[in-house]
Amino acid sequence: MNHADASPPKFAVFGNPVRHSQSPWIHRAFADQCDLPMQYRAVLVEPADFAASVAGFFADGGRGLNITLPFKQQAFELADTLSERARVARAVNTLLPTASGLAGDNTDGIGLVRDMVANLGWHIRDKRVLLLGAGGAVRGVLELLLKEQPAQLTIANRSPGKAVTLAQDFAGLGVVAAGGYEQLAGDSFDLVINGTSASLSGDLPPLPDALLNDRSCCYDMMYAAEPTPFMRWAAQNAAWAVADGLGMLVEQAAESFYLWQGVRPQTGPVLAALRTRLAGGAS
Ligand code: ATR
Repeated sequence: MNHADASPPKFAVFGNPVRHSQSPWIHRAFADQCDLPMQYRAVLVEPADFAASVAGFFADGGRGLNITLPFKQQAFELADTLSERARVARAVNTLLPTASGLAGDNTDGIGLVRDMVANLGWHIRDKRVLLLGAGGAVRGVLELLLKEQPAQLTIANRSPGKAVTLAQDFAGLGVVAAGGYEQLAGDSFDLVINGTSASLSGDLPPLPDALLNDRSCCYDMMYAAEPTPFMRWAAQNAAWAVADGLGMLVEQAAESFYLWQGVRPQTGPVLAALRTRLAGGAS
């Protein structure tokens, strides 16, 4: 093979929808920074075609895949081997070919924790943490949050039964309380993380008053050019600090890049450039 003519190693994100994915831009920025050849595409995959599309991509020499909604659970079932964090999350957002087959990993939890702790300088250890939501997004980050050893972790969900089931699943990893939003009345938390999809439809979970103290930090795992309803609620309730999930997006991408390329990109400049790009109206 003539290596001078070889095309750059192929990477992609599979999702549906996927048109607004920022992953191609983020990974190209990492590749430029690290001076590594890389092609990275966003690929719209039909649900019925997911397994065949993954197999085809790797049979064609693909070097790594990111998996986004709604395929993270299917990717979990498809992987031949799983990292511990993917096994616990029961979801895979990163696939890579190895000698023992397709390896599945999940970089969402480490992405969230790195953004909160390393980028924003927030504390999780010994803090009272509230997680809103009990879907795949919350399941994906629970293990890594519990590893930070909060004093207490509470999951609140519109359907309380789902929060209770999740808490039971993770009970071996720390103290996890669970219930509906009305059960939060009278409680206050140091860190509130919105892992619901409510922001997508411009909604806010029904949060009681007096949930925050004067040092509370609020994090929305969603991001948008404008502050989300949850971020506006946090500001109105005098949160000490408020952040969206753009940093999590960049950090989870950096961890995937590291798994594939063995090199850790610097995330700060890429996050700053992405924020400027989104503020300029790019989607
Ligand atoms: P994801 O994989 O993004 O987590 P999901 O599994 O569909 O998606 O979960 C969405 C979460 O957002 C759920 O916790 C959902 O609450 P229910 O389990 O009660 O459905 C929550 N959610 C969505 N819209 C909401 C809203 N308007 N208010 C409160 N919670 C909402």
